[in-house]
Amino acid sequence: MRVLLTGGAGYIGSHTALTLIGRGHEVVVLDDFSNSSPEAIRRVEELAGVSIPVIEADLADREAARAALAGVEFDSVIHFAGLKAVGESVAEPTRYYRVNIDSTLALLDLMAERGVSRIVFSSSATVYGDPAVSPIDEEQPVGVGLTNPYGWSKFMNEQIIRDAQRARPELEAVLLRYFNPVGAHPSGRIGEDPAGIPNNLMPFIAQVAVGKRERLAVFGDTYPTPDGTGVRDYIHVMDLAEGHVAALEGAVEGVTVYNLGSGTGSSVLEVVRAFEEASGRPIPYDIVEARAGDVATVVADPARANAELDWRTTRTLAEACRDSWSWQSQNPGGYAG
Ligand code: UD1
Repeated sequence: MRVLLTGGAGYIGSHTALTLIGRGHEVVVLDDFSNSSPEAIRRVEELAGVSIPVIEADLADREAARAALAGVEFDSVIHFAGLKAVGESVAEPTRYYRVNIDSTLALLDLMAERGVSRIVFSSSATVYGDPAVSPIDEEQPVGVGLTNPYGWSKFMNEQIIRDAQRARPELEAVLLRYFNPVGAHPSGRIGEDPAGIPNNLMPFIAQVAVGKRERLAVFGDTYPTPDGTGVRDYIHVMDLAEGHVAALEGAVEGVTVYNLGSGTGSSVLEVVRAFEEASGRPIPYDIVEARAGDVATVVADPARANAELDWRTTRTLAEACRDSWSWQSQNPGGYAG
């Protein structure tokens, strides 16, 4: 296939680009580089040994995107583009809704105009809110108790894609609900490069290990979990990338939803210890107040993706820590050097 990757220069997009090429697909990247670097694509090209067409455009600006994509051939789309910082979304809700919703609307219209019918969408386990059960399967309720515009925008985009499919029955749409992506390509050449202070646990820990930040703040230790800290389902970004390839290749008419997670939960303190072991560096931490909007436990039931896509995670948390450390230690300043 020839796959358009919106947001293809980002963390998950760049790893997926490399994995798609490895499977014999061609990729075209559309990115506005508002939170990513062209250097990521340069390194994917270097690792893959092919050159990748890159279109610099803001997908939310539909006229600009249409013009930029004129004459660019693609037969399927993976839609990664969007803003993803939870706290920022609370402070700037209109920007989050505009960017995350307008880009999906523009893309769906563009796909209809171009006769493209296959789309894989980056959704999130955040659509489950504070789940009543663990592990969570895809039939659990979504859109209840969401605490921030980022999460709502994922939920709304799922609904928009469902409605678009109803109007265009040939659409083959796959909604992928990611759990907690971590790690990097084992080469350490590409990885997660958050702007400013990382919001997410593993990039923060990696920056403590490399000496960029002094101490980790552990958000709460009185959750109803084995050690009191939050439990999440960490998925190696290369496993996640392979999940996208499987979803793209396995897409069928209609809308299909898959959890992409490992099915195993790890606590914050378990991640800290795993990273200390992988890096050989101490991770000093303080226990602080729980973060607003956080929940105790979020773990995937990935049975549907295992069965229908013949996909499962094969990499451990220890490997994710090793690869994240390899990326962080080789690129202490991210792609900027
Ligand atoms: C967060 C978002 C989620 C988003 C996902 C991927 C919230 C409430 N949720 O998930 O919507 O889809 O990122 O970007 O922000 N932790 C610390 N100290 C830190 C950072 C995190 O103790 O400095 C803890 C958290 O309390 C949590 C765990 O580590 O228990 C994982 O946190 P994080 O990496 O931010 O992911 P989520 O909160 O699960």
